[in-house]
Amino acid sequence: MRNILAGLDVGSSKVCALAAESAADSSFALLGYGVVPCTGLRKGVVVNIEATVEAIRAAADEAERTAGVRIGAAVVGVAGAHIRGLNSHGIVAVRGGEVGARDLDRVIDAARAVAIPLDRQVLHILPQQFAVDDQEGVRDPIGMAGVRLEARIHLVTAAQSYGQNLGKCCERAGITPAEMMFEPLASADAALFPEERELGVALIDIGGGTTDIIVFHNGAVMHTAVLPIGGSHLTGDVAAGLRTPMTEAERLKINYGIATNLVVGRDEMVQVPGVGGREPRLISRRLLGEIMEPRMEEIFAMAHRELLRSGVADSLGSGVVLVGGTSLLEGTQELAERMFSMPVRRGLPINLKGMPEDLMKPMYTTAAGLLLHAAAGRAGSNGLARFGRWGRLRSRVTDWVRDFF
Ligand SMILES: Nc1ncnc2c1ncn2[C@@H]1O[C@H](COP(=O)(O)OP(=O)(O)OP(=O)(O)O)[C@@H](O)[C@H]1O
Ligand SMILES: [Mg+2]
Repeated sequence: MRNILAGLDVGSSKVCALAAESAADSSFALLGYGVVPCTGLRKGVVVNIEATVEAIRAAADEAERTAGVRIGAAVVGVAGAHIRGLNSHGIVAVRGGEVGARDLDRVIDAARAVAIPLDRQVLHILPQQFAVDDQEGVRDPIGMAGVRLEARIHLVTAAQSYGQNLGKCCERAGITPAEMMFEPLASADAALFPEERELGVALIDIGGGTTDIIVFHNGAVMHTAVLPIGGSHLTGDVAAGLRTPMTEAERLKINYGIATNLVVGRDEMVQVPGVGGREPRLISRRLLGEIMEPRMEEIFAMAHRELLRSGVADSLGSGVVLVGGTSLLEGTQELAERMFSMPVRRGLPINLKGMPEDLMKPMYTTAAGLLLHAAAGRAGSNGLARFGRWGRLRSRVTDWVRDFF
């Protein structure tokens, strides 16, 4: 039987489905993909089931058609401002003087035993580090001698109903959501170098509806956040500022938009079609910049505040990596470097081998990361939550702690 894998990114502006086949030696090959615009989500959350189901079905159909296989189940990305990340820690007494797998299970249980409201679901339990007695910064404590084991973890939780709605849309489109994965975690897997995770890096995914942040240091997730702002706000600003329809504003933004006026000459002109039978106008590209720059500054200021507030801003030795469609905007990197006072690079799905040229873009990092996870065959590793099934998580804790580092 063929082993078909799939990653499904249901974003606020598009659905991207990737289909691959894994071989017995655990290598895998990308077979096909489908990308379809989607209007069923707002700020990363399903607001229109019908439209979302349609888009998922169309993207999956296209991926199936190009791959020549059927997709049964997929790793599905989840995002939205309802997602919360928090750090927690737990301490247990070590049984028998040497840390064993059971102690690890117990200490993770203790660390995750924070008050999580009933209407929220834990998506990921991400270990940061362990301490055995006074020895801190331990990555794999199994086999170490000691009497006290401490774990520091990062927990990602999501509002249950939002996850369920997304799951329902997938089911109705004929795809079983085998796992739900927090989108920036997937993007990070696709776009970051291991050295960046060690030295410290903030990956910022500026999509259509939200801006997602994930911070790594010493190889572990230190912070996650979702900001309810993204590229669709820019399109709205251009439409209002130039009094032009949204579709036209989107076109102008993509073709001529700039994140800062620093990167455009004084006399570049752009034609704006008139609304309601009016004559088209010529405007300076700098005017477009004047409309867009404040919004881009707002996005980066919010992101910067988030990094400062959570105390991770000083641990970003590798600076910032930008992904998501909005990062394609000309001048984004320059503006971000100015606002963060750090090196900034644009991220691409470099870690997924065999990505077609068309998909080597910052908006496909999430889908690539979701597929990488499906391919690694370690569903449940990195604390991946099985959709609707809690029991599995616990028994796998030891596995994934080992996997993770
Ligand atoms: N060349 C470009 N220049 C500027 N913006 C662009 C460009 N290409 C795409 N965008 C914008 O990127 C956004 C879509 O990005 P992306 O595909 O990463 O979002 P998404 O994953 O669908 O949404 P989200 O992650 O917020 O749920 C849209 O707002 C689109 O206008
Ligand atoms: Mg996205």
